[in-house]
Amino acid sequence: VYEVIRIYGGKPFTLAEHLQRLERSAEGIKLDLPYSRTVLAVEIEKLVHKSQISEGMIYLQLTRGACSRNHLFPDCATVKPTLLFYVRTLPALPEAKDQPGVTLITMPDERWKRCWIKSIALLPNVLAKNEAISKGGDEALFIEDGLIHECSASNVHAIIDGKLISPPPGPKVLPGITRQVLIRCAREIGLDVVERAFSIDEARRAAELMITSTTREISWVKRWDDQTVATCVGPTTLRLHETFKLAVQQETRTGERASTAPKLAFGCR
Ligand code: PDD
Repeated sequence: VYEVIRIYGGKPFTLAEHLQRLERSAEGIKLDLPYSRTVLAVEIEKLVHKSQISEGMIYLQLTRGACSRNHLFPDCATVKPTLLFYVRTLPALPEAKDQPGVTLITMPDERWKRCWIKSIALLPNVLAKNEAISKGGDEALFIEDGLIHECSASNVHAIIDGKLISPPPGPKVLPGITRQVLIRCAREIGLDVVERAFSIDEARRAAELMITSTTREISWVKRWDDQTVATCVGPTTLRLHETFKLAVQQETRTGERASTAPKLAFGCR
């Protein structure tokens, strides 16, 4: 299982939420976190601080550990899980109004039914994304039985009848952390939020379509297969993105939200 966490101004954003999802994903594959979320948060914050990286991301991966090839889980008395995390720089994202639009390419959803687990077994996502790129798109949009699920590496949302419609996390939708913040932002600006699946027909009629992820924040959809969806960012998407940027600033610059982890006087190694 893995996590991708964005660093803004040298501080991890929504670290506590990411570690909570990591714990759920690990539970989903019957694996215990080798350290508590509190200790992990402290260690991650130490590494981010040491790296002196201001704009970037943390990649964290937890596997069952190194052992001889077998379908059976290794004996946890002898094989210890392997946890790695590293920090790398990323270019700072443009202002919400300057965000480029994206093109989505429809792909059949051939993934398993536990997509709520953020697992490194990403072969269907990788194949779909590459096919979308080869067709001139930016992201693959997974659709099954006429319903929109999510993209290969992002969640998808629509503005329909003045409401934010967002497919709920579940068998075919990852509980995206950016999605969680998006929903919080929508409520803050008084936008009704409906967490439900939506159909291809509804999506075609939507006033605005957007996708969200840790690395891209919120991107407006300009094209979907052969159709133009929008020629510039829609007013609601823009407002949501500006509110999102404020949430980032609040958490990472002024530390207004509760700190993700208390500062402990010990390390975990
Ligand atoms: N991908 N859905 C899928 C299938 C994803 O892989 C991702 C994130 C998301 C959005 O989740 P979040 O808002 O928590 O980043 C939704 C990451 C960025 C990746 O694999 O690199």
